[in-house]
Amino acid sequence: TSKEEPKEMDWSFTGPLGKYDQAQLQRGYKVYREVCSACHAMSLVSFRNLGEKGGPFYDPKYPNPNDNPYVKSLAKDIQVSDIDNETGDAIKRPAGTADRFPSPFANEAAARASNGGALPPDLSVIAKAREGGPDYIYSILTGFVQPPAGLTVSPGKYYNPYFPGDLSSFWTGKGEVPKGGFIGMPPPLAANKVTFDDNTKSTVENQARDVSAFLMWAAEPKMEQRKQFGLGAMIYLLIFTGLLYASYRRIWRNVA
Ligand code: HEM
Repeated sequence: TSKEEPKEMDWSFTGPLGKYDQAQLQRGYKVYREVCSACHAMSLVSFRNLGEKGGPFYDPKYPNPNDNPYVKSLAKDIQVSDIDNETGDAIKRPAGTADRFPSPFANEAAARASNGGALPPDLSVIAKAREGGPDYIYSILTGFVQPPAGLTVSPGKYYNPYFPGDLSSFWTGKGEVPKGGFIGMPPPLAANKVTFDDNTKSTVENQARDVSAFLMWAAEPKMEQRKQFGLGAMIYLLIFTGLLYASYRRIWRNVA
């Protein structure tokens, strides 16, 4: 297979001192909720995670995210499946903070049937599962282009140079076989598809960047703690090295 290398983006969370940009995570959640969640599950994420330290809607006033009224209201906006305690019937009810994000389809067969045979992967850890992480996601989302002349695109598929594939049997053009593949996902974003609450311009690029950051947070919610701990450990080791060297010099000071 072949594909274009993902675009290298500047993320606030790269490097040993990197941190998530909370406003960006909030916008990214909105993109996931209003666009991606129509097809993609995130079944490892609970609503309360949104209000945990480092999360998009963390508020120091509510150290316990289950008390955070905004997180509660976000949960309540979404219906989840449950069983009625009295009658045993399958029901829908508004989510609470303890609920996980509901899946858009009942099962894999239903998901494939709605997507021309392709399976929209669960996005909970996609940013860690795919090489390139948020760069890869951003590149896929902004990478839908007109197929070059000579490439026969199968029905229900879309040419995307950043999606791995092998296009040699679909290529009758001159020159090398184009890089990339056919993806079963229609271009999900469009300008002004999502209204950002903080006046960020709702371009495809901004929507793609913010949802990629959100998916990175979802895949690694404890990244900031991990990096902080790592930095502390390095400083500790540096001081320890100095101490060890000083005591070595002292122990051996009278030895010729
Ligand atoms: C595949 C993200 C919206 C249907 C993918 C992949 C990513 C992704 C990263 C590639 C996964 C891989 O490498 O295997 C997103 C994001 C969305 C979004 C961030 C919102 C901005 C949608 C929507 C639909 C959809 C609205 C349905 C209309 C699919 C399908 C695939 C897919 C069917 C599998 C494609 C294949 O294997 O050929 N999505 N997606 N996605 N997506 Fe989406």
